[in-house]
Amino acid sequence: MATRKIMIFDTTLRDGEQVPGAKLNAKQKLEIALQLEKLGVDVIEAGFPCSSPGDSQAVKNVAKEVKKSIVAGLARAVREDIDICWESVREAESPRIHVFLGSSDIHVQKKLRMDREKAMNLAVESVKYAKSYCSDVEYSTEDASRTDFEYLCRVIEAVIKVGATTINVPDTVGYATPDEFGDLIIRLREGVPALDKVTLSVHCHNDLGLAVANSVAAIRNGAQQVECTVNGIGERAGNASLEEIVMTLRTRPTVFQAHTDINTKEIYRTSRMVSRLMNIPVQPNKAIVGSNAFAHSSGIHQDGILKDRRTYEIMKPEDVGIKEHTMVLTARSGRAAVRHKMKELGFDLEKEIFERVFQRFINVADRKKEITAKDLSSIVEVEISKVPETYNFLGMQIMSGNQTTPLSSVQLKKGDEILTDAAIGNGPVDATYRCIERLVGHQGKLLDYDLKAITTGKDALGEAMVRVEIEGRIYSGLGTSPDVIEASARAYLNAFNRYFANNV
Ligand code: KIV
Ligand code: ZN
Repeated sequence: MATRKIMIFDTTLRDGEQVPGAKLNAKQKLEIALQLEKLGVDVIEAGFPCSSPGDSQAVKNVAKEVKKSIVAGLARAVREDIDICWESVREAESPRIHVFLGSSDIHVQKKLRMDREKAMNLAVESVKYAKSYCSDVEYSTEDASRTDFEYLCRVIEAVIKVGATTINVPDTVGYATPDEFGDLIIRLREGVPALDKVTLSVHCHNDLGLAVANSVAAIRNGAQQVECTVNGIGERAGNASLEEIVMTLRTRPTVFQAHTDINTKEIYRTSRMVSRLMNIPVQPNKAIVGSNAFAHSSGIHQDGILKDRRTYEIMKPEDVGIKEHTMVLTARSGRAAVRHKMKELGFDLEKEIFERVFQRFINVADRKKEITAKDLSSIVEVEISKVPETYNFLGMQIMSGNQTTPLSSVQLKKGDEILTDAAIGNGPVDATYRCIERLVGHQGKLLDYDLKAITTGKDALGEAMVRVEIEGRIYSGLGTSPDVIEASARAYLNAFNRYFANNV
């Protein structure tokens, strides 16, 4: 049976990057964009070019390198934004300018301080202007779900008339419910016949936890493009999750009679990459990509799974690229074995970075008897996501216990200089963080601290993720080690290195 193709518009690098502390540098942005292309997304929204010269340059780099996906940049309905946006995406094989303007009364009157007619004229003028540069222009009626229906239809009709090729209907504040949002799509298609000639898109936020439900309701009722992010990251409670939408359509073909061109086997790897580079942990029970998404813990379920996986599994972990790897590495595994295993995991690293990974592998394997595929992935991902290091971690010593004041001594390297200091604290992590602050000469405010084991077992590799406020801005950090205090120290130092990379 032929099914409708649904376009996947990924906004991880724009709406997703609006998460505090998730800011990427240009190299990291490009790395994620190339992975999104491999995943098969139709559109990559690479950024909001007018937000900073750095973002404009990062979008430019993505536009130059990505060949298969459309590369979009976001612009307000302002000429200068559109100019910068076009400069940033123009070198793409398939560029797109994405213009947005509020359409609800609260946005028009309170935020824009205009009346409806003035806002509509601005929308029309902006689309005309964008169209003078680029044939592919998307227009978003921000806060569409809270917009007067008759006005919404008039705006959409007007911007289509002057050349918008995609109309995006956002549920900007995650206010809609699935029935209501699905119904809005039907009413819009009836109310604006010209929508038949363009791509109808939706963009749902997750404030009530309904972003995916609203997106798939819209698809059922005729939407042809969905805007989403990897792991559902994004402003406030996030955006609709790419992997959940894609797997919903794939798992329930008779309900939706629609498909995407996503290579689902790349989903897990993409999720990991985004989590690490943006330093946003994935909750264990997250659908599709959480560490428990395919774990069966109750005896009855395990029994059922052993008899026939379909008893408790509606998707196969392999379908989203989660593989069981049995071969383990040890400190005696040489470079060839480590490289072979990394290739199997999909990492083909250049010589210099491979050497760094290998040295870290030896360091960890010396302390942890067996290195599993998950351990190795974690080591690789941490190394490739590193920023230039102002301070290198050399080592540490801890004195702690319930009868003594915890004391931590840390050794760092800055250029050729070896720096050592010690500090006491309320616990070993607190003492270590105070010590690092003394060594780098800056204070940090720890906003989030997440520590998890990569694999099972008492000697599992620990992975720490932190978000730290330094000089008024938020930086994230990541560290791994079989020693959880060391993992925590590495994560904290990683956040400071990000600060120095951005400020020195
Ligand atoms: O949530 C929203 O309305 C947006 C628009 C810019 C599309 O992100
Ligand atoms: Zn949004």
